[in-house]
Amino acid sequence: MRRPMVAGNWKMHGTCDSVADLVEDLANQVFPSGVDVAVFPTSLHLGFVVECLEDLPVSVGAQNCAHEAGPGALTGEISPAQLVDAGCKLVLVGHSERRQIMGESNELLVRKFAAAQASGLTPVLCIGETLEQRDAGKTLEVVGQQLDSVIEELGIGAFVNAVIAYEPVWAIGTGLTASPQQAQEVHAAIRAQLAKENSEVAQGVRLLYGGSVKAANAAELFGMPDIDGGLIGGASLNADEFGAIVRAAGN
Ligand code: 13P
Repeated sequence: MRRPMVAGNWKMHGTCDSVADLVEDLANQVFPSGVDVAVFPTSLHLGFVVECLEDLPVSVGAQNCAHEAGPGALTGEISPAQLVDAGCKLVLVGHSERRQIMGESNELLVRKFAAAQASGLTPVLCIGETLEQRDAGKTLEVVGQQLDSVIEELGIGAFVNAVIAYEPVWAIGTGLTASPQQAQEVHAAIRAQLAKENSEVAQGVRLLYGGSVKAANAAELFGMPDIDGGLIGGASLNADEFGAIVRAAGN
């Protein structure tokens, strides 16, 4: 049985005041014990959030890390080892906003994934297709390549301590959600691709869905056999809404 996980990606949101309010509101949520909960604030707020959530069963992760374990001369970057030092347990690798807007390639992301694991962080590998790719019938090909780039370089063993988030780019921040059937189809394909290498690893790895998940649609998505939780953007900025999504994963 895979333990569900619900994670909030706060993206480039929050001020010192609003983040303090959000963590205070999170502390008032009832989280079911059977769900792993995590939040990903900006790097600027990581230390503060780690401190505030110390006594709660909520892990803190970073949205990005350097492609080298560090330390070193890499102006503006934060090493995975520094993230561990700050209390982080997880790191997002390859969010579509970084792939598309910052131009991060599969090659670079494999290095980030490896550096994160080498430092003791659990990478959350984000993969997903654009609307054009879906319309061209290339969804499974694109997602398969994004996954393969890690398997080929690091081997299937890299997924023993990793999480995968399937986030169709067209569903992110648009209010358009993949239907539970659409999401399940891709999740099943991801698990089948992993199973070709090692079925035990494939059965153990958690596959989260991301893209306009809200309290209103979470239960239906999480009810699918290969959807093990969610990576939540906008809705994670509201503690009540996020709490309701976490509880949906616990049912
Ligand atoms: P939204 O939930 O705002 O669509 O964002 C999803 C996402 O990108 C999480 O990483």
